[in-house]
Amino acid sequence: MEKPQRKKRILSGIQPTGIFTLGNYLGAIRNWKQMQEDYNCIFFIADMHAVTIRQDPASFKKQTLECFALLLACGIDPEKSIVFIQSHVPSHSQLTWLLNCNTQFGELSRMTQFKDKSSRHSDNINAGLFSYPVLMAADILIYSPDLVPVGNDQKQHIELTRDIVNRFNNAYGKTFTMPDAYIPKLTARVMSLSDPTKKMSKSADDNLCIDILDTPAQIIKKFRRAVTDSDSLVAYREGKDGINNLMSIYSSITGKSFEEIESEFDGRGYGDFKTAVGEAVAEELAPIRENYDRLMNDRSYLKAVYADGAKKAATISSRVLEKAYKRMGFIPPEK
Ligand code: TRP
Repeated sequence: MEKPQRKKRILSGIQPTGIFTLGNYLGAIRNWKQMQEDYNCIFFIADMHAVTIRQDPASFKKQTLECFALLLACGIDPEKSIVFIQSHVPSHSQLTWLLNCNTQFGELSRMTQFKDKSSRHSDNINAGLFSYPVLMAADILIYSPDLVPVGNDQKQHIELTRDIVNRFNNAYGKTFTMPDAYIPKLTARVMSLSDPTKKMSKSADDNLCIDILDTPAQIIKKFRRAVTDSDSLVAYREGKDGINNLMSIYSSITGKSFEEIESEFDGRGYGDFKTAVGEAVAEELAPIRENYDRLMNDRSYLKAVYADGAKKAATISSRVLEKAYKRMGFIPPEK
């Protein structure tokens, strides 16, 4: 008889930089929810990554808890997956130091996200912003995942992680397992409703950004105001960025193909189509809002979940951490 295959391990993190947008949801979290069925999953709130940009302590604290509750509200199930807050598991920072000493200044200077963020925050180019990808490498390597689901903007960081694995293993003997980036096929890249050539974002110039906690009325109103083009054909075509974006959102929520959507709205105007997309999104997000409200009213439950998650994460990660210290020649502490 064939041996039952071990379920692969998946790990991913998300920064608590505010209430998630429809982009975060369709691009990441909804896939995570799905992955729980087929993989052993570890998900965390990357609060330590968030402080590479200056945070106001009170709102940072509030947002971290809100984002944790949101993950659960979106269907990340602590019975199936390990869910925790990054700063609660010290092995992440501990491994980061060891990896920092095995990562070159030159390779970190080439990270496009560093170049981009340091030009946007030129008054605060701190050492943490520079070594951000090393913390991310530590997040990953300490759990030996097979796959790391990330967006395209994080692929370079996964490449760096893989380089670090090779370098470390060559220098000290096999310590880390090689992770692969996992870019899910179904991922919709959600563009701004006000400027469909840009990614949907919480920035001030995107006044139609959909927060996953928006009310149905707010959602429908924003979709009705979505920028489209001057003809009236609902079809996925080069140059029709606004309609293409609405079509991919609608498709990813309803599971309908572009051809099916084209015939559904054949001969109907953009108005009808925008309303339909708004309604589909509102319906998808409504239960998340309800779950979120319930969870935020039960702080002791949230605490119990993140305490349990951190405990499980600490157990797994301490093994790899100890191995890394040992391989580098540190004297193990007496127990
Ligand atoms: N840097 C990732 C982002 O901004 C978040 C993140 C932190 C992450 N650590 C991770 C993602 C480890 C995957 C694995 O999107």
